[in-house]
Amino acid sequence: MARVILGVSAGIAAYKSASLLRLLREAGHRVRVIPTADALRFVGEPTWAALSGEPVATDVWTAVDEVAHVRLGQSADLVIVAPATADLLARAAAGMSGDLLTATLLTARCPVVLAPAMHTEMWEHPATTANVALLRQRGALVIDPASGRLTGADTGPGRLPEPEELFAVVQALLARLMPAAASLAGRRVVISAGGTREELDPVRFLGNWSTGKQGYALARSAALRGAEVTVVAANVELPDPAGARVVRVVSARDMHAAMLAEAGIADAVVMTAAVADFRPVARSDSKIKKDGSQPDPIVLTENPDILHDLAGRRARGGRQGQVVVGFAAETDPDPQAAQAKLARKGCDLLVVNPVGNGRGFGSADNEAIVYSREGSQTPIPRGSKEALAEVVWDLVAARLQ
Ligand code: PMT
Repeated sequence: MARVILGVSAGIAAYKSASLLRLLREAGHRVRVIPTADALRFVGEPTWAALSGEPVATDVWTAVDEVAHVRLGQSADLVIVAPATADLLARAAAGMSGDLLTATLLTARCPVVLAPAMHTEMWEHPATTANVALLRQRGALVIDPASGRLTGADTGPGRLPEPEELFAVVQALLARLMPAAASLAGRRVVISAGGTREELDPVRFLGNWSTGKQGYALARSAALRGAEVTVVAANVELPDPAGARVVRVVSARDMHAAMLAEAGIADAVVMTAAVADFRPVARSDSKIKKDGSQPDPIVLTENPDILHDLAGRRARGGRQGQVVVGFAAETDPDPQAAQAKLARKGCDLLVVNPVGNGRGFGSADNEAIVYSREGSQTPIPRGSKEALAEVVWDLVAARLQ
């Protein structure tokens, strides 16, 4: 996870930066948006604050006690300004610092990416050309604008590149800067996600509230770290995570078969799925009817323990060096019970996250303590599920080395 500053200056293309922000957040980065005051005429402060989960200011007079105009630039891993208008380029080239964005550009010592967007005449004006040359000479990466349709009917160079392109540039730069970003390059990982369903009849099932968000966050993050990712997804309704192959299953037994098949050659296996421990002994072929008499009790039988079987196969000489990770959803997390569960399941790491009362299942945020086979504990404070995924992969990558 990197600390990224997304500067937004006052161009119509500011709306595209909302998508860029989303991509950065989904990749697990912490993003602070610094718009110029005029940029807020195009996209308002609530949009940036809601999408980033961070406060938004345009001037140097907000949060003065935190000395934001210096601290933000100093602590960033990367700054990207998109769109960068002709005016912003001129002020940056002149070393001005009248607002929070230009002050941040002056204090940043990390890579700075500027993505200009403006009308062709402004881009081709000698003043802009000179400013861009000066900024490049000082080390900024200025991305030439794309050519195409501009605000009105006119076309030419001046378009902001698409958010996916800008995101790819940011990820490539971060991969070079922060080795963690490429720490799973060439590795195969298999992740289970979602909640299994055990059918009672053609219309009813026993299930749980897992949405697959945590599993998909792990998948996206692993793909961005260079891994080949397979997700075994039980009843997940989210869009497929970028860069991952998705195998769909319904029940615990389906997931058992799919996980054992997919995990054979994996370097790491992570079980985030909420798997039903039990299933009804019998499934009715027709809808169970209400006939006025006392309903039959539901008799249950145990499902296979997938995590236990994956760890057991590894222990019996399966894939050399494979890392096996379990998750544990606990309403009252307890260290002794966690360590005992880890030993019972036979995994290397157990990510214990609190659930219930709006926590864990379906939430955007999560927190956990990761227990290791060797007895260590790594607390992960409350944050996005993407941020939690980053810590899990850091721990997995360290074990794979
Ligand atoms: O999908 P979200 O809405 O984002 O929610 C995420 C989550 C809360 C579901 C996730 O973070 C989580 O905690 N997943 C594990 C849920 C769970 O089933 O915990 P458990 O303590 O019952 O099981 C422990 C481990 O054994 C889990 O890795 C589970 O996948 C595995 N297991 C359980 C039963 C079984 N028959 N086979 C298994 O492999």
